[in-house]
Amino acid sequence: MAKQTCLMIGGSGMAGGWINNFTTNFSDRIEIVGLADVSTDVLTAQGEALGLSNSQLFTDFNEACATVKADFCGIAVPPQFHSPAAIAAMENGMPVICEKPIADTLDAAKAMVRTSQKTGLPCAIIQNYRYADNKQELIRIRDEGRLGRLQHIVGRYACDYRRYLSWGRAWRHDMDFGLLFEGSVHHLDMLRFLSGGDCETLIGFGWNPEWSSFQHYSSGFYMMRMDNGVHTSYEGNSSSAGIVNCWNHEHYRAEFEEGAVEIAGGNQMTIHRVGGETEVYEAPAIPYQAHQHLFDEFLNWLDGGEPSDTRVEDNIKSFVLVIAAMETTLDGQPKQITDYLSDLEI
Ligand SMILES: NC(=O)c1ccc[n+]([C@@H]2O[C@H](COP(=O)([O-])OP(=O)(O)OC[C@H]3O[C@@H](n4cnc5c(N)ncnc54)[C@H](O)[C@@H]3O)[C@@H](O)[C@H]2O)c1
Repeated sequence: MAKQTCLMIGGSGMAGGWINNFTTNFSDRIEIVGLADVSTDVLTAQGEALGLSNSQLFTDFNEACATVKADFCGIAVPPQFHSPAAIAAMENGMPVICEKPIADTLDAAKAMVRTSQKTGLPCAIIQNYRYADNKQELIRIRDEGRLGRLQHIVGRYACDYRRYLSWGRAWRHDMDFGLLFEGSVHHLDMLRFLSGGDCETLIGFGWNPEWSSFQHYSSGFYMMRMDNGVHTSYEGNSSSAGIVNCWNHEHYRAEFEEGAVEIAGGNQMTIHRVGGETEVYEAPAIPYQAHQHLFDEFLNWLDGGEPSDTRVEDNIKSFVLVIAAMETTLDGQPKQITDYLSDLEI
């Protein structure tokens, strides 16, 4: 496996986590050869840590994409920059791996899909929560039919972000539909992943409690009917004050023909069967968790392996759920998901 060179767009926050992951876990497979960030402080600090010269550091990602000839481009900046950065990278011949959400609008996300299709270059999106032991075990329970057929799944996310800036950055508290774009994009993708179906119809509500630290809706209820007959429902709450199910501790309950499975924090699987003892066990460990799985999968794709499961052509079917949830929140009408994607060849 040859070492892949990387142009990294973003240097701190989540991007700092990526760089740390690359240097800690992928030093034999990834070499960062260029870095773009609007903050010169970030560029200086990361440039020094990575041993990059001034000619490898950029404040403008367009200039970086036109200048650096890397084997791929990693993007972990705020959502409104994903699509322009990804398009600039692909237009300059670089495959892309990009943080969720795909983009800030459906049009911008579709432009990424079309650019990936036009250039024939891989474009993968991060969906780190899929790659956890308990989620993968739930998939095995479903696929092997251990509890018969799946009827419905209930998902719950609840974080105590009642204090301003408690969710990392001001922009998350100030943006429109922060719950949906920054939070639910993970959970609606997870419900799609766990159910094994794509969403046909989505409906729901959103609101902002008076004591919220958010400018816009912090909370919502959404329901989906999937195309394989499974139904899902979702409670999202970034103003949680009681039972918290925050990141990596979201609660999912899957109702099967012969029992119900509950997962939340840790790797504990809990299976309830009417009239039987509750069964509790640790999910078997998967080789790579979260981002590490996605980086490994993407590098394998670049080396001629299978495309990433969360490639942009597929993951837009999760991102569109955020758009549909936003629209049903505004007009109270059920949304047919095929209406949103009919102009794409996916
Ligand atoms: N997968 C996850 O679990 C997870 C968790 C947190 C954040 N994220 C995602 O990561 C992305 C970044 O979020 P964050 O909280 O790290 O953001 P952030 O505000 O900390 O920004 C990250 C970096 O991007 C730089 N930046 C901002 N605008 C830029 C631009 N136009 N060009 C170049 N650099 C720019 C910033 O200076 C910073 O160094 C978002 O898409 C977010 O949704 C994902």
